[in-house]
Amino acid sequence: MTRVVRTPEEWRGLRRALTGPVGFVPTMGALHEGHLSLVRTARAQCETVVASVFVNPTQFDDASDLERYPRDMAADLTLLEAGGVDLVLAPAVEALYPDEYRYRVSESELSRILCGTSRPGHFDGVLTVVMRLLNLVRPDRAYFGEKDYQQLLLIRGMVHAFFMDVEIVPCPIVRDSDGVALSSRNALLDRDGRRMAAEFARILKKGPDVGSVRGALEAAGIEVDYVDERDGRRFGAVRIGGVRLIDNVSL
Ligand code: PAF
Repeated sequence: MTRVVRTPEEWRGLRRALTGPVGFVPTMGALHEGHLSLVRTARAQCETVVASVFVNPTQFDDASDLERYPRDMAADLTLLEAGGVDLVLAPAVEALYPDEYRYRVSESELSRILCGTSRPGHFDGVLTVVMRLLNLVRPDRAYFGEKDYQQLLLIRGMVHAFFMDVEIVPCPIVRDSDGVALSSRNALLDRDGRRMAAEFARILKKGPDVGSVRGALEAAGIEVDYVDERDGRRFGAVRIGGVRLIDNVSL
């Protein structure tokens, strides 16, 4: 039976009683097969699996994006329970930000490029909430999807920079049969948007270089935020019907 924990105080009491390796899957809810693949990996590697469901306001640079972010706690809990999660941390905003975000983690290079260019402050919000969650949960391993590759690199860098005693475990992107990388935001796409999202995935993977990928996306009527290549990967971000989607492929 999955237990839901709402406050840091309650969590601390439970944490003290845990012995074997603890695996942690942080999420913002609206769970899909991508999250469940992280849970499965954690379940296979750890004695206790903890997930968090917390829509983190500090990582949204756009208030309307935060407002329409899909939320369905009951459905999320059903999926987490079926996936064998032992404990779910679902704190209120005030519980995780008792300082009202006066204290934060900031990175000055990687967080300023790719998604950081058009989403100022986004990665400060991500790093800060992940730092808070990791300090609270104190897992042995924490699981992050490669779909948010820039996020994964920044979290790894933070853990290294602050000597944090946790292993960051990267997990491969999960795609639907039309090639679209699973994302909670896909639920916001209409039929046409979904078709264009599949085009985005196809073009990003197939195009010979950054320039041709951008050209092909624009020709398909897709608004491009960026297409870039670094460290053997190609990264892309687009807007489809007002929904921002990101993806990346290994070259
Ligand atoms: O990837 C996400 O869902 C979020 O950025 C995370 C890591 C849970 C932090 O809010």
